[in-house]
Amino acid sequence: MFEQLVHINERPYPFSIYTADTLWTDPHIAQQMLRAHLNPNTDSASRRPAFIEASVDWLQARFHIGPGTRLADFGCGPGLYTTRLAQLGAQVTGIEFSENSLRYARETAVTHHLPIDYMHTNYLQFHSDKRFDLITLIYCDFCALSPAQRHTLLGIFRHHLADDGAIVLDVHSLVEYENFEEGVSYGRNQSGSFWTDEDYFSFTNQFKYDAEHVTLDKYTIFTPTRTFEIYNWLQHFDQDSLTAEFTASGLVITNWYANVAGEPFDPQSSTMAVVATKS
Ligand SMILES: C[S@@+](CC[C@H](N)C(=O)[O-])C[C@H]1O[C@@H](n2cnc3c(N)ncnc32)[C@H](O)[C@@H]1O
Repeated sequence: MFEQLVHINERPYPFSIYTADTLWTDPHIAQQMLRAHLNPNTDSASRRPAFIEASVDWLQARFHIGPGTRLADFGCGPGLYTTRLAQLGAQVTGIEFSENSLRYARETAVTHHLPIDYMHTNYLQFHSDKRFDLITLIYCDFCALSPAQRHTLLGIFRHHLADDGAIVLDVHSLVEYENFEEGVSYGRNQSGSFWTDEDYFSFTNQFKYDAEHVTLDKYTIFTPTRTFEIYNWLQHFDQDSLTAEFTASGLVITNWYANVAGEPFDPQSSTMAVVATKS
């Protein structure tokens, strides 16, 4: 027991363990995530509908989206953006590794007679002969990846971008980092809940890494039958650190915004969004 408590509370090296696949694809957790995506009153897995509408309006105007626009949405979830973008006439590809979210996205496409190409794959291994005018990665998913994974993903984006195509993504800023507080807590859910449908105890540890501007929410879940851990890492950026990563992948950031709804860049904002092209 003592050794287990030591392990629960020890500070792991940034991005040393990857559990995003469990977080999004475990059958029980994926159902909770889908519910969160579709809940119009929370920003927990997707942003609220009003923001998504504003975001799609901005993307449409900024990139002249319409019939003929070839668009790829990485980590498309249940298709809250892809559906709306396809309704503008764009040729949309959605890339997602949660089968549960993709099922919902595909059913929505059938209901609305939208020819969206949904691909069930890990976007870090994405390969296609298609080239895209616009590539999106929305809701700060870039921040959940390790430096090596971010480099891989930017390389995939560059490879699949049309010569005059653009990338749009958002990230957490250092303002968000400063607001994060370290902490420890534990609780019990006797009839099951977010993490599993079994009775469980959960330990939550929050760590901050000042040198790297990384935060970690670490969850250790004990059920009568198993123990598992979820590591939610987040990289936070300033303009210099984000520019350096794009430059290293042969990309250039051409515009800065506060978010993917195109609000003006604001140094006090908890997020930043960028438009980037091949350099
Ligand atoms: C924060 S959610 C955002 C979903 C969507 N972009 C939105 O804003 O509504 C991140 C999504 O990316 C997906 N995802 C995360 N890592 C992925 C990976 N390596 N390959 C494919 N999908 C991934 C998750 O399953 C989840 O649906």
